[in-house]
Amino acid sequence: MKSYADQPQEIRQLVEPDRVHRDVYLSPELFALEQQHLFANTWTFIAHASQLPQPGDYITLDIAGRSLLVIRQADASIRVLYNRCAHKGAKVAGEDCGNAGKFLRCPYHAWTYKLDGAPLAVPLKSGYEGTGLKQCESGRGMTALQHVEVYRDFVFVKLNDGGPDFKAYFGDALDAIDNMVDRSPTGQLQVEGGVLRNVIHCNWKMYLENINDTVHPVSTHESAVHAAQKVWTGQPEGSPKPMSMEQILPFGASYDFFDSMGGRVYANGHSLLGVNFSIHSGYEPPPDYVAAMVAAHGETRTREVLDHSPQNAVLFPSLAVKGSPLAIRVIRPLGVDRTLIEAWSFRAMGAPDLLFERALTYNRLVFSPMSVVAHDDAHLFETIQDGLRSPGNEWVSLHRGFDPAEIGQSTITTNGTNELLMRNQFRAWSHYMTLDMKEAS
Ligand code: FES
Ligand SMILES: [Fe+2]
Repeated sequence: MKSYADQPQEIRQLVEPDRVHRDVYLSPELFALEQQHLFANTWTFIAHASQLPQPGDYITLDIAGRSLLVIRQADASIRVLYNRCAHKGAKVAGEDCGNAGKFLRCPYHAWTYKLDGAPLAVPLKSGYEGTGLKQCESGRGMTALQHVEVYRDFVFVKLNDGGPDFKAYFGDALDAIDNMVDRSPTGQLQVEGGVLRNVIHCNWKMYLENINDTVHPVSTHESAVHAAQKVWTGQPEGSPKPMSMEQILPFGASYDFFDSMGGRVYANGHSLLGVNFSIHSGYEPPPDYVAAMVAAHGETRTREVLDHSPQNAVLFPSLAVKGSPLAIRVIRPLGVDRTLIEAWSFRAMGAPDLLFERALTYNRLVFSPMSVVAHDDAHLFETIQDGLRSPGNEWVSLHRGFDPAEIGQSTITTNGTNELLMRNQFRAWSHYMTLDMKEAS
């Protein structure tokens, strides 16, 4: 395998207009460079504000090898700190989530910090008199991230100073978040029902591109659909359709259905699949829910929100949103061939329980490691991770629907089976990987 460190030109050559080189999935060195460049130059989803209802509530997580602490402040704002003690670097918060109380205390030598990371106290204070502690980084407390955006309770960070600001980076792709949040008559979502975590032995980009792959369900999920059809066929006319059937049967839609649903790409790798309709369009909104929505948002906005049920919106590179089933997937790369997928369910506040049940049922049926759908995909991703090592062809084809005129355009609406949505991700990948690399002179 080639070396790519400080070789922006070599990295760009991995992404051709209509295909990508296998090294983007296989090279451990490129994975390390992604941590250093791609995930630092782009906006990453880290949490939903409803995970932190009270002052002092926190969660910890790793993004691109950096340990982060997301914490609710006394004034209700949300701060993100590097989870690193200013003394010797211990993780100040050790749990995945919890409540810090009124201040943070390092478990090693008990240095304490205000909830915003400012230094509060150190034991044996007199021992620091006359030393340079206060004047140096260690005296300034925990470091806060500068680029944090809370958009309608979705918390994003950018680790580096470079790259576009939040609004410029996501642009109209944020409509997907608006659509989901506005499904609540009170304009509030609440994370509930826990998280489903699935570690897949594949490169994270395989997962991300599959979110936009409308050609695979017909073959990949054939057995799950057949099983559902077998159970459902022969039921007496007018039998109430169980929620699981309502959700699984549409996976058996035709190529024509998936093509007609339409897709859209935005600048910076984002996309919307199911511009016209999707497998979620058939979920009936209960009448009392529609009435509550109209009372809150008015007739026009209610129709706009409920009539628009895209299959998936990708907010590159870390988040996939499903508005109608009120579910999100979060993509967390762990290694070049290991990816953590988290599936979270939302309750739309002020909406009937049925909607929340749909979210839970969908995530369990489709994204849980024990689901009848996710393992079809996981199995194939793992065979791809192996298969790509074979000699004879170093490239992965993304030719379907390629049109040279698409290059350089920011927003394009196209047919649902066009691999443009994947090409668009790789163009963003190439751009943000090399954005802050020195060009060879
Ligand atoms: S490392 Fe935190 S107090 Fe020493
Ligand atoms: Fe799939």
